[in-house]
Amino acid sequence: MIEFNQHAAVYPGIYLARSTADAATHQRMIAAVRAAVAKSPPERDGKGGKKVRVKEVWELPEFQSLKAAARQLFHHRFGDYSVQIADHWVNVMESGEWSELHVHSHTAAAVVYMLESGDANAGGDFALLDRELPFCCDDQRYPTHDVHSPSVEIRPTGFGNGSALIFPAHLQHHVTCYRGRPEHPRLTVAMNLVSPAVTAKQLLQQEFEKARAHFKSGQLGRLTPFA
Ligand SMILES: [Fe+2]
Repeated sequence: MIEFNQHAAVYPGIYLARSTADAATHQRMIAAVRAAVAKSPPERDGKGGKKVRVKEVWELPEFQSLKAAARQLFHHRFGDYSVQIADHWVNVMESGEWSELHVHSHTAAAVVYMLESGDANAGGDFALLDRELPFCCDDQRYPTHDVHSPSVEIRPTGFGNGSALIFPAHLQHHVTCYRGRPEHPRLTVAMNLVSPAVTAKQLLQQEFEKARAHFKSGQLGRLTPFA
Protein backbone atom coordinates (compact mmCIF):
# COMPACT_ATOMS: atom_id res chain seq x y z
CA MET A 1 0.00 0.00 0.00
CA ILE A 2 1.42 3.34 -1.04
CA GLU A 3 0.15 6.61 0.37
CA PHE A 4 1.57 10.09 0.51
CA ASN A 5 1.59 11.31 4.08
CA GLN A 6 3.89 14.35 3.97
CA HIS A 7 4.33 17.18 1.53
CA ALA A 8 6.35 20.35 1.05
CA ALA A 9 5.78 23.34 -1.21
CA VAL A 10 8.79 23.66 -3.49
CA TYR A 11 7.65 26.54 -5.70
CA PRO A 12 4.29 27.86 -6.93
CA GLY A 13 2.27 24.85 -7.99
CA ILE A 14 5.13 22.40 -7.36
CA TYR A 15 4.97 20.06 -4.40
CA LEU A 16 7.21 17.34 -3.08
CA ALA A 17 5.41 14.48 -1.33
CA ARG A 18 6.76 11.59 0.71
CA SER A 19 5.21 8.15 0.47
CA THR A 20 4.77 5.43 3.05
CA ALA A 21 6.25 2.78 0.72
CA ASP A 22 8.81 0.55 2.36
CA ALA A 23 11.91 -0.99 0.82
CA ALA A 24 10.20 -4.33 0.19
CA THR A 25 7.43 -2.63 -1.80
CA HIS A 26 10.01 -0.84 -3.93
CA GLN A 27 11.94 -4.06 -4.48
CA ARG A 28 8.81 -5.79 -5.83
CA MET A 29 8.15 -2.85 -8.17
CA ILE A 30 11.74 -2.70 -9.36
CA ALA A 31 11.82 -6.46 -9.97
CA ALA A 32 8.68 -6.17 -12.10
CA VAL A 33 10.15 -3.34 -14.15
CA ARG A 34 13.41 -5.20 -14.70
CA ALA A 35 11.55 -8.36 -15.74
CA ALA A 36 9.49 -6.33 -18.22
CA VAL A 37 12.60 -4.69 -19.69
CA ALA A 38 14.37 -8.03 -19.99
CA LYS A 39 11.38 -9.75 -21.58
CA SER A 40 10.60 -7.21 -24.26
CA PRO A 41 13.06 -4.35 -24.43
CA PRO A 42 10.99 -1.23 -25.06
CA GLU A 43 11.93 1.11 -27.83
CA ARG A 44 14.38 3.79 -26.95
CA ASP A 45 12.85 7.21 -26.91
CA GLY A 46 15.75 9.31 -28.08
CA LYS A 47 18.05 10.31 -25.27
CA GLY A 48 15.42 9.98 -22.56
CA GLY A 49 15.99 6.31 -21.82
CA LYS A 50 13.25 3.70 -22.08
CA LYS A 51 9.58 4.10 -21.31
CA VAL A 52 7.95 0.95 -19.92
CA ARG A 53 4.23 0.67 -20.56
CA VAL A 54 3.94 -3.11 -20.09
CA LYS A 55 0.43 -4.04 -18.94
CA GLU A 56 1.57 -6.69 -16.45
CA VAL A 57 3.62 -4.11 -14.56
CA TRP A 58 0.69 -1.75 -14.16
CA GLU A 59 -1.61 -4.54 -12.99
CA LEU A 60 0.54 -5.14 -9.91
CA PRO A 61 -1.15 -4.01 -6.67
CA GLU A 62 1.82 -1.77 -5.88
CA PHE A 63 1.47 0.19 -9.12
CA GLN A 64 -2.31 0.34 -8.78
CA SER A 65 -1.81 1.70 -5.27
CA LEU A 66 0.63 4.31 -6.56
CA LYS A 67 -1.90 5.49 -9.14
CA ALA A 68 -4.57 5.86 -6.44
CA ALA A 69 -2.09 7.75 -4.27
CA ALA A 70 -1.32 10.14 -7.14
CA ARG A 71 -5.00 10.93 -7.60
CA GLN A 72 -5.36 11.52 -3.88
CA LEU A 73 -2.32 13.81 -3.94
CA PHE A 74 -3.89 15.87 -6.73
CA HIS A 75 -7.12 16.03 -4.76
CA HIS A 76 -5.32 17.09 -1.63
CA ARG A 77 -3.28 19.80 -3.34
CA PHE A 78 -5.72 21.09 -5.91
CA GLY A 79 -9.11 20.16 -4.49
CA ASP A 80 -10.42 17.95 -7.28
CA TYR A 81 -11.00 14.23 -6.83
CA SER A 82 -12.57 13.72 -10.26
CA VAL A 83 -9.03 13.76 -11.66
CA GLN A 84 -8.11 10.80 -13.86
CA ILE A 85 -4.79 9.33 -14.92
CA ALA A 86 -4.61 9.67 -18.69
CA ASP A 87 -1.22 8.10 -19.14
CA HIS A 88 1.43 6.39 -17.04
CA TRP A 89 4.82 4.83 -17.68
CA VAL A 90 8.11 3.92 -16.02
CA ASN A 91 11.26 5.74 -17.14
CA VAL A 92 14.36 3.57 -17.19
CA MET A 93 17.43 5.77 -17.48
CA GLU A 94 20.76 4.05 -17.88
CA SER A 95 24.20 5.53 -17.60
CA GLY A 96 24.86 8.17 -20.26
CA GLU A 97 21.18 8.99 -20.81
CA TRP A 98 19.22 12.13 -20.06
CA SER A 99 15.82 13.63 -20.69
CA GLU A 100 15.56 16.67 -22.91
CA LEU A 101 13.53 19.74 -22.03
CA HIS A 102 9.83 18.99 -22.55
CA VAL A 103 6.29 19.54 -21.28
CA HIS A 104 3.41 17.09 -20.87
CA SER A 105 0.72 18.12 -23.35
CA HIS A 106 -3.06 17.95 -22.86
CA THR A 107 -2.61 17.28 -19.15
CA ALA A 108 -3.35 19.29 -16.03
CA ALA A 109 -0.60 18.00 -13.78
CA ALA A 110 2.24 15.52 -13.89
CA VAL A 111 3.38 13.30 -11.03
CA VAL A 112 6.88 11.84 -11.06
CA TYR A 113 7.63 9.22 -8.43
CA MET A 114 11.22 8.29 -7.60
CA LEU A 115 11.37 4.52 -7.50
CA GLU A 116 15.15 4.22 -7.64
CA SER A 117 17.37 7.27 -7.87
CA GLY A 118 20.39 5.21 -8.91
CA ASP A 119 23.90 5.97 -7.75
CA ALA A 120 24.49 9.01 -5.57
CA ASN A 121 26.25 12.07 -6.99
CA ALA A 122 25.96 10.66 -10.50
CA GLY A 123 23.68 13.24 -12.11
CA GLY A 124 20.15 12.34 -13.14
CA ASP A 125 18.89 15.52 -11.46
CA PHE A 126 15.31 16.50 -12.12
CA ALA A 127 14.89 20.20 -12.96
CA LEU A 128 11.92 22.38 -13.85
CA LEU A 129 11.99 25.70 -15.65
CA ASP A 130 9.60 28.48 -14.82
CA ARG A 131 9.65 31.10 -17.56
CA GLU A 132 7.08 33.23 -15.82
CA LEU A 133 9.34 34.43 -13.01
CA PRO A 134 6.44 34.77 -10.61
CA PHE A 135 8.48 35.97 -7.65
CA CYS A 136 10.45 38.79 -9.15
CA CYS A 137 8.25 39.89 -12.04
CA ASP A 138 4.67 38.96 -11.33
CA ASP A 139 3.48 42.18 -12.89
CA GLN A 140 5.17 41.16 -16.16
CA ARG A 141 4.29 37.56 -17.01
CA TYR A 142 6.27 36.01 -19.83
CA PRO A 143 4.74 33.38 -22.11
CA THR A 144 5.69 29.99 -20.73
CA HIS A 145 6.86 28.60 -24.04
CA ASP A 146 8.85 31.62 -25.14
CA VAL A 147 12.33 30.12 -25.12
CA HIS A 148 13.89 33.56 -25.20
CA SER A 149 12.29 34.70 -21.97
CA PRO A 150 14.20 34.59 -18.71
CA SER A 151 13.63 31.54 -16.59
CA VAL A 152 14.12 30.19 -13.11
CA GLU A 153 15.47 26.65 -12.84
CA ILE A 154 14.10 24.69 -9.92
CA ARG A 155 15.95 21.57 -8.78
CA PRO A 156 13.92 20.23 -5.88
CA THR A 157 16.00 18.90 -3.02
CA GLY A 158 14.85 15.78 -1.20
CA PHE A 159 13.53 14.10 -4.36
CA GLY A 160 14.81 10.71 -3.29
CA ASN A 161 13.43 7.18 -3.31
CA GLY A 162 9.79 7.11 -2.26
CA SER A 163 9.22 10.80 -3.00
CA ALA A 164 7.05 12.33 -5.69
CA LEU A 165 6.81 15.67 -7.40
CA ILE A 166 3.48 17.03 -8.60
CA PHE A 167 3.55 20.04 -10.89
CA PRO A 168 1.48 21.81 -13.57
CA ALA A 169 2.10 19.91 -16.77
CA HIS A 170 2.93 22.94 -18.91
CA LEU A 171 6.09 23.63 -16.89
CA GLN A 172 9.15 22.68 -18.91
CA HIS A 173 11.41 20.14 -17.25
CA HIS A 174 14.36 17.90 -17.94
CA VAL A 175 16.70 15.39 -16.31
CA THR A 176 20.45 15.90 -16.39
CA CYS A 177 22.69 13.17 -17.73
CA TYR A 178 22.82 10.13 -15.44
CA ARG A 179 26.26 8.61 -15.03
CA GLY A 180 25.70 5.81 -12.54
CA ARG A 181 26.89 2.24 -12.80
CA PRO A 182 25.46 0.26 -15.74
CA GLU A 183 23.77 -2.24 -13.43
CA HIS A 184 22.12 0.52 -11.41
CA PRO A 185 19.66 2.43 -13.63
CA ARG A 186 17.58 5.37 -12.44
CA LEU A 187 13.87 4.48 -12.33
CA THR A 188 10.97 6.91 -12.10
CA VAL A 189 7.23 6.45 -12.50
CA ALA A 190 5.46 9.18 -14.46
CA MET A 191 1.73 9.84 -14.48
CA ASN A 192 -0.30 12.40 -16.44
CA LEU A 193 -3.36 13.61 -14.55
CA VAL A 194 -6.30 15.18 -16.35
CA SER A 195 -9.12 17.03 -14.70
CA PRO A 196 -12.38 18.27 -16.16
CA ALA A 197 -12.26 21.14 -13.66
CA VAL A 198 -8.81 22.65 -14.03
CA THR A 199 -6.07 23.19 -16.60
CA ALA A 200 -2.36 23.32 -15.86
CA LYS A 201 -2.41 27.11 -16.27
CA GLN A 202 -5.23 27.42 -13.78
CA LEU A 203 -3.37 25.20 -11.34
CA LEU A 204 -0.43 27.55 -11.36
CA GLN A 205 -2.67 30.58 -11.01
CA GLN A 206 -4.52 28.99 -8.10
CA GLU A 207 -1.34 28.10 -6.33
CA PHE A 208 0.60 31.23 -7.04
CA GLU A 209 -0.62 33.50 -4.29
CA LYS A 210 -0.67 30.70 -1.74
CA ALA A 211 2.85 29.60 -2.60
CA ARG A 212 4.19 33.14 -2.58
CA ALA A 213 2.78 33.61 0.91
CA HIS A 214 4.56 30.43 1.96
CA PHE A 215 7.74 31.65 0.32
CA LYS A 216 7.63 34.94 2.17
CA SER A 217 6.97 33.22 5.47
CA GLY A 218 9.85 30.79 4.98
CA GLN A 219 7.54 27.77 4.69
CA LEU A 220 8.80 26.54 1.31
CA GLY A 221 10.67 23.28 1.49
CA ARG A 222 9.44 22.37 4.95
CA LEU A 223 7.82 18.94 5.11
CA THR A 224 4.53 18.86 6.96
CA PRO A 225 2.12 15.98 7.55
CA PHE A 226 -1.14 15.89 5.64
CA ALA A 227 -4.04 17.05 7.78
FE1 LIG B 1 8.35 14.76 -18.17
